[in-house]
Amino acid sequence: MDKINILKYLLIVFGFLIFSCNNSEIAETVQIEVKGIDTDETKSIENTDFSLGEQIYRDNCMICHQENGMGVDETYPPLAASDYMLADKIRSIKLSVYGSKDSIIVNGIKYSGGSMTFSDLENEQIVSVVNYIRNSWGNEGGIVTIEDVNKAIEKK
Ligand code: HEC
Repeated sequence: MDKINILKYLLIVFGFLIFSCNNSEIAETVQIEVKGIDTDETKSIENTDFSLGEQIYRDNCMICHQENGMGVDETYPPLAASDYMLADKIRSIKLSVYGSKDSIIVNGIKYSGGSMTFSDLENEQIVSVVNYIRNSWGNEGGIVTIEDVNKAIEKK
């Protein structure tokens, strides 16, 4: 081997060493990221039992918002894919309990307000029903907690 070839050889070995070091760093990063996906949020959605919320919905809300969450024309707003509901978690809890005195716009349609009957549900029941409506019919609204409900009810 002449000098040039030895130099090339060394460069290749050196390059390979650097490459494998980098690789183990990448592997570490990937592992950390995979762990990161497993957040409390995803865990609690998986562990949430929506059947109680569904029952409360059937008993208290379905008459207006309908079984498929689509509401009724321009009278009762939809909860399925409702831009209004999904935009604000705390506001959606308040609306679920008190309705709205003022008019609201849901998916481009105006509802005049003042026609939703107030529910007399316990705060724990509100947690269940709001989690049900925010995560049914294709909605991905995340999980609300009892703390969220206490906060929302406090500030009518
Ligand atoms: C008597 C019919 C009626 C019942 C029963 C009813 N709602 Fe409503 N809901 C309405 C109307 C009408 C509005 C529009 C605002 C208003 O008029 O107060 C509304 C608005 C809403 C909104 C915000 C708008 C939207 O579409 O995103 C949410 C969330 C909601 N209701 C959830 C519930 C939940 C949960 C229950 C049961 C606990 C319930 N509603 C029971 C009629 C009803």
